[in-house]
Amino acid sequence: MVRNVSIVMNGVTGRMGTRQHLVRSVLAIREQGGVMLPGGEVVVPDPILVGRNEKKLRSLTEAHGIERWSTDLDESLADPEVEIYFDSQTTTRRTEAVRVAIEAGKHVYCEKPTATSLDEALEISHLARERGVKNGVVQDKLFLPGLLKLKRLVDGGFFGRILSVRGEFGYWVFDGDGRPAQRPSWNYREEDGGGILLDMLCHWRYVLDNLFGEVESVSCLGATHVPERWDENNEPYEATADDAAYATFELAGGVVAHINSSWCVRVNRDELFELQVDGTQGSAVAGLRDCKIQHGKNTPKAVWNPDLPDTNDYRSQWLGVPQDYDSDNAFKIQWEMYLRHVLAGEPFPYDLLEGAKGAQLAELGLWSWRERRWLEVPALETSRMPEKESGHA
Ligand SMILES: NC(=O)c1ccc[n+]([C@@H]2O[C@H](COP(=O)([O-])OP(=O)(O)OC[C@H]3O[C@@H](n4cnc5c(N)ncnc54)[C@H](O)[C@@H]3O)[C@@H](O)[C@H]2O)c1
Repeated sequence: MVRNVSIVMNGVTGRMGTRQHLVRSVLAIREQGGVMLPGGEVVVPDPILVGRNEKKLRSLTEAHGIERWSTDLDESLADPEVEIYFDSQTTTRRTEAVRVAIEAGKHVYCEKPTATSLDEALEISHLARERGVKNGVVQDKLFLPGLLKLKRLVDGGFFGRILSVRGEFGYWVFDGDGRPAQRPSWNYREEDGGGILLDMLCHWRYVLDNLFGEVESVSCLGATHVPERWDENNEPYEATADDAAYATFELAGGVVAHINSSWCVRVNRDELFELQVDGTQGSAVAGLRDCKIQHGKNTPKAVWNPDLPDTNDYRSQWLGVPQDYDSDNAFKIQWEMYLRHVLAGEPFPYDLLEGAKGAQLAELGLWSWRERRWLEVPALETSRMPEKESGHA
């Protein structure tokens, strides 16, 4: 049996909304015929696009053969046929819209950060629990092929005792003077929810928590390296938000993690994000897609002698981890899980409380930078409120 599920999608005229959530997830799921539930029922997502700009919505719906769209969020949410609200608006708009959707009794799924402050992030998490709606946050990096390979190595005990995790994320974002910037200008304005710290620390929270141990403390230095940029209309503006973050974390179990995030670095890596993990028995470097390893027994003897050319070709001494399955889009994998969660009650650990942990780490990172000191990361909630029975299937 096939069942259509109406989903209000807000913010899908944006970068993430169009490419990852609409085209590569929801429409791709429709094209493959839907998502199979354990009982054999097939669920087909049916999007209703919501936004401010009628022209953009029309051209998006026409380009993809989507029938329903609206510029009125309240009206869309008042439709009893709608079961799910999805939000990929700019960050400052998220909490309010998610709150309205929860109040309307809809299940909610949204981009990260779920809010610009921990208080607001917790507020929508609590509200969703109180109202008994199923809720989720995008944690796409967990489903990238490179990080899935890394997780398999961790779970298989490849590393022995993990000592450290060191990450490099970033690339050069043009300032917009001459060559257009490849990121929206709100990213560089604090008052509009911008800043790389808020953007990336919520990713690092779930990556570190899920792979290596809960983040227990943080020390972070931010910077606004490029103080003036040019916006979408070619007008100069002041960059009021940070464009680089240099963060160190202590994890449960004693692992030390350090991740640099920057929109002001030129890439001399294999991928735009790389994570090196060193353990007593072996090491790995994972990117978005690939992962390579060096076992302890295979480790060359490195000797410091700058007077002579090094005889080791270090890069060639690593082995690739094979890709033995077809990888799907990371956002789509999570969408399918969320749909099975809503419609068949399958587990979905990536809820708004997990989202709040991301907002918490970003807030503490900013605080650490301001005060130039280490901060503990308190546990958010240990005794979770029981989930109420939802009025939905
Ligand atoms: N998971 C990831 O890897 C990832 C990557 C990038 C961005 N994001 C998150 O996704 C969200 C969107 O980022 P983006 O890069 O797609 O931004 P974007 O600027 O390309 O898109 C933002 C969307 O919000 C809408 N919007 C903007 N101002 C609005 C207003 N005043 N009222 C109503 N709608 C408004 C826009 O029309 C657009 O649809 C952000 O919260 C960001 O943190 C996540």
